[in-house]
Amino acid sequence: MEFFEVFKRRRSIRRFQDKKVPEEYVKKILEAAFYSPSSRNRRPWHFIVVDDGDLIKKLAQTRPALRFLETAPLAIVVCGDENISSAWVFDASIAAEHIQLAATALGLGACWGHVLDRMHSEEKSAEEYIRELLGIPRHIRILCVIGIGYPAEEKPSHSEKEIMPDRVHYNRFGNLWKIE
Ligand SMILES: Cc1cc2nc3c(=O)[nH]c(=O)nc-3n(C[C@H](O)[C@H](O)[C@H](O)COP(=O)(O)O)c2cc1C
Repeated sequence: MEFFEVFKRRRSIRRFQDKKVPEEYVKKILEAAFYSPSSRNRRPWHFIVVDDGDLIKKLAQTRPALRFLETAPLAIVVCGDENISSAWVFDASIAAEHIQLAATALGLGACWGHVLDRMHSEEKSAEEYIRELLGIPRHIRILCVIGIGYPAEEKPSHSEKEIMPDRVHYNRFGNLWKIE
């Protein structure tokens, strides 16, 4: 897929076909994640590839916003080691986007399920819930879970109508840049 087409085609896909993601695709997606930039090149990422159906169902119970994982054949838990970098959130966010773009380029659908600073229940954070479920040590922080699979829903591509001309400033804030 042409590079700029990937940006347009990437949509949050939350329903997936009952079809495994080929291992070579998983490798390509992870490769894309490891090509991400990171603050001071510290590369604090950890990725947990989950294709066990029972575990994915449990990940879907993290919080209502992650229910969409129920039909996903693959989930990648995107983490960062806070002992390696205080900028782990930014680094993990960029990697999460690389993962979604790579999935799109391979004809797959993906969606970000947010974990950090969200709650599983009144007593337990979403992070703690997943930490216990997958045996993740304390210093490895959990940003999100990306659900990936062959799309079972169709969404229109992004379009130029979404460009916000009043948000682009030229030399000085408030002096709008003319997007043709
Ligand atoms: C930081 C972040 C957190 C998000 N969290 C969730 C989430 O928990 N559950 C979900 O279904 N979608 C989540 N999304 C996906 C957004 O809802 C989606 O990107 C947005 O509605 C725009 O739609 P699009 O991705 O199709 O362009 C998240 C996206 C980002 C960037």
